[in-house]
Amino acid sequence: MRPYLIAGNWKMNQTPEEAVQLAGELVRQLQGVKHKLLIAPSFVCLPGVAEVLKGSSLLLGAQNMAAEEEGAFTGETSVNMLLALGVKAVILGHSERRHIFGETDELINAKVRLALAKGLEPILCVGETLEERQAGRAGEVVKTQTRKGLAGVSPADVGRVTLAYEPVWAIGTGKTATPQDAEEIHGLIRDCFAGLYSPREAENLVIQYGGSVKGENAAQLMAQPNIDGALVGGASLKAAAFVPIARFDEGRT
Ligand code: PGA
Repeated sequence: MRPYLIAGNWKMNQTPEEAVQLAGELVRQLQGVKHKLLIAPSFVCLPGVAEVLKGSSLLLGAQNMAAEEEGAFTGETSVNMLLALGVKAVILGHSERRHIFGETDELINAKVRLALAKGLEPILCVGETLEERQAGRAGEVVKTQTRKGLAGVSPADVGRVTLAYEPVWAIGTGKTATPQDAEEIHGLIRDCFAGLYSPREAENLVIQYGGSVKGENAAQLMAQPNIDGALVGGASLKAAAFVPIARFDEGRT
């Protein structure tokens, strides 16, 4: 059985003080949850949140990192800095990085490989735009992003990679892919992964869904055989919204 991974991507929200408060509420309210749980605050909030998470089962994540290990890269944050703060996983290739900041598959791939080399678990995000979906190209786009994002990643390392399918048109828009639409793409990603690695590796691959996940739709999405968790943006910013997602299988939503 694959473990569910429920992650909160706080994006560019929360001051350090607010982040510490939210993290504290989550630690208290998520006690006893069996799934793997992760929160990814902004870089400046990481030190404070790391303190709050100590001794809890919540893992600390980052939203991005540099493709280089160190040096003259003004404004960037390195993998070693993240590791030193206790970060365990890093979201890479989020659609906002791809579409607002122009990150290419090649750059994202360099980050994935560096994260793995240094011991951080990458969450590789893939997803099509509305235009691509309407042109019938959703499957092809996510398969290409998966293949290019994982280029050069060895079978020995790939077990530490998580995939996140986030259709761009569903992010922050309130529009969720139907569980069936999401399931179809998740199946394609798993098949693609089996071709790149092996059916066994593909069976173990955790594939999260992201895009307007909330308490009301989490259980239905995660009931799909190939949906193994959620990457949550907007609904991760309030404990009252995130907790029901993390407890999606406890019949409270
Ligand atoms: P959303 O964002 O839940 O606000 O749609 C998801 C994401 O971007 O990871």
